[in-house]
Amino acid sequence: MSQTRILALVGSLRAASINRRLAEAAARTAPAGVEITLYEGLADIPFYNEDLDVADAVPAAAVALREAVAATDAVLLVTPEYNGTLPAVLKNAIDWASRPYAAGVLKGKDVAVISASISSNAAKWSHDDAVKALGVAGANVIEEASLNFGAIGSRFAQTHPADDAEALTQLAATVRLLTDSVAAKANA
Ligand SMILES: Cc1cc2nc3c(=O)[nH]c(=O)nc-3n(C[C@H](O)[C@H](O)[C@H](O)COP(=O)(O)O)c2cc1C
Repeated sequence: MSQTRILALVGSLRAASINRRLAEAAARTAPAGVEITLYEGLADIPFYNEDLDVADAVPAAAVALREAVAATDAVLLVTPEYNGTLPAVLKNAIDWASRPYAAGVLKGKDVAVISASISSNAAKWSHDDAVKALGVAGANVIEEASLNFGAIGSRFAQTHPADDAEALTQLAATVRLLTDSVAAKANA
């Protein structure tokens, strides 16, 4: 059986990010044959600029992102909410991965979105904006694989999500839906 690869893009760059920990917990739920990798290069990518997005001038960090997204079977986007929407680092990654227009590496890619914030709103606005931007970029967003975690400041203050049985069950279900979608396409 070939390996299914899932690339996690995390929208918080801070070391103690709970969104990052949720991505780590999701990685621990990966069954045999599924590999989840956290992408580490988002902070190095310059802001999207059409003047840079030309042959032989695309910044190496953006090329690396495009290659990583192209090489993965699916993407797990894990995002906090900053001022009611996506953090700039994730929007920037989506923008780079969306071009060339109609032929970017996100086109047709299976994506699940997980959002998490300290409020009870659970980063829902950020989640909705991520779904919208990914959809415009041509990704296949699997809405039923979505998860929203609210009140993460208290819930995960002392507990890593990988030690939270309910979170693990939810994350495993998201990973399964994503891999099921990849498998269904492969068998179509
Ligand atoms: C610039 C900034 C803006 C924020 N805006 C929101 C917001 O609109 N809604 C919300 O629920 N939390 C907001 N927060 C709080 C985040 O939910 C909180 O910092 C969360 O822990 C970030 O995720 P992380 O732990 O993965 O870094 C904001 C935080 C920052 C730094």
